[in-house]
Amino acid sequence: MTNDRSELALLQQQTKTRQKIVEAITHQFAAEDEGLQHALMAAKQAGLPEIQISPIQGKLLQLLAAACNAQKILEIGSLGGYSGIWLARALPPNGRFITLEINPTHAALVKNAFVQAGVSDRAEVRIGRALELLPQLQHEAPFDLIFIDADKANTPSYFEWALKLSRTGSLIVVDNVIRNGALTDIESTDAAVQGMRRFIKMAGAEPRISATALQTVGSKGYDGFAVALVTG
Ligand code: DHB
Ligand code: MG
Repeated sequence: MTNDRSELALLQQQTKTRQKIVEAITHQFAAEDEGLQHALMAAKQAGLPEIQISPIQGKLLQLLAAACNAQKILEIGSLGGYSGIWLARALPPNGRFITLEINPTHAALVKNAFVQAGVSDRAEVRIGRALELLPQLQHEAPFDLIFIDADKANTPSYFEWALKLSRTGSLIVVDNVIRNGALTDIESTDAAVQGMRRFIKMAGAEPRISATALQTVGSKGYDGFAVALVTG
């Protein structure tokens, strides 16, 4: 009983500390401007789930894109356009950001979010099933950075497409690879977890990339990013 209680107190303390750290890092490095705030608010008002990446993750994506001097970026899964804004802002004025969204209502929000954030000259949303849209992108490839953040069960297929649409030196980033720690649960029947397990196994065995995965904690719970550099 006492142990349970002190364990609970410890967990609550840890959660509070993490929240404070998230706030401090966000404040110092990843403050949202009106464009990003508008995208969040519009998505919330439209009833979209609040599962977009955190500001800290958005800034990391932006830095990765800038570090590889990205001119063309592809995103699979737009949600409300929040991550798209972070990524599109890493581009030079003549850069291209393409995001794929299955839901036309969400896509309309995304389009408006890009206008509000001042990136609609570079950023475009394409509506449809990613597995149908991806083959049509071959003439626009290679992309310098590809961010996969759509339905988790199809992540292995999206990753295969990302490789096809890459060049040596491209970065592929995959969200939600840890799934609240379920990644190593071999008995999980959750299609999302199974998708991520397959993706991680596939990426680990893929000779054309060098990859790692980072666990993330904070406002979006316990999850993670995988980052893969296409090496050949
Ligand atoms: C879910 C999807 C996401 O992309 C995310 O970052 C968190 C959760 C989901 O479908 O549950
Ligand atoms: Mg995600």
